[in-house]
Amino acid sequence: MTIHLKSAADIDKMRVVGRLAAEVLEMIGPHVQPGISTGELDRICHDYIVNTQKAIPAPLNYNGFPKSICTSVNHVICHGIPSDGKILKSGDIINVDVTVLKDGFHGDTSKMFCVGEVADHAKRLIRTSQECLYKAIAIVKPGTTLGDIGHVIQQHGEAQNYSIVREYCGHGIGRIFHEEPQVLHYGQPGMGLRLVAGMTFTIEPMLNAGSRLTKLSKKDGWTVTTKDHRLSAQWEHTLAVTEDGCEVLTKRSDEAL
Ligand code: MF3
Ligand code: CO
Ligand code: CO
Repeated sequence: MTIHLKSAADIDKMRVVGRLAAEVLEMIGPHVQPGISTGELDRICHDYIVNTQKAIPAPLNYNGFPKSICTSVNHVICHGIPSDGKILKSGDIINVDVTVLKDGFHGDTSKMFCVGEVADHAKRLIRTSQECLYKAIAIVKPGTTLGDIGHVIQQHGEAQNYSIVREYCGHGIGRIFHEEPQVLHYGQPGMGLRLVAGMTFTIEPMLNAGSRLTKLSKKDGWTVTTKDHRLSAQWEHTLAVTEDGCEVLTKRSDEAL
């Protein structure tokens, strides 16, 4: 098990790429409207990352993934593949997950968008999953354990009667897109790895309205859906552990943090 601790110079680079990833989400927001296809959202993000940011969309060709972002609509939990045939309609909820690679380092972040008018129960799922991420971020500092992080997410999600997806998790990130450690979104206080300054990882809780059980598409090998086809929501940030807390490397302008 190798955890790559980052130097101050490494974190300077991760701050730059983290900001780029956040800016992609800020840029795409106004485009997420009824009638647009997820394939079009992918093209807009791809062209922005490549042409404007002079960076690389890390998902493209990653383990054979065919597109530049993940777009996960309604009962799709994660790793949805953008497609020209998938047209967004009013009432949909969508996670857009962006990973940018620049100067040797990755920044990975995702957020939920509401398409047109969305039902209150769906908004509540979205809000609770974001609160789970924020509550986890609030405890990240040297001495906190990975179990502490999983625990606060699980507690808050389950207290609202949602379930937490277990098959997919946050991850160390840096020169490598997915590196150690695995950051589970459930767990017990005091258990697991103890954080130290210089660690960089993502937290990316997925909450389901119904059962936590997942299904991986046999057709495309990527799309993960809820087994019961009820809604799922996810938010993700890339963080660096500092001497006295953490820095959210993918913070957007609309976030206090
Ligand atoms: N961005 C996803 C994550 O949060 C990973 C996507 S991998 C892909 O870790 F190949 F599906 F793009
Ligand atoms: Co990630
Ligand atoms: Co991601």
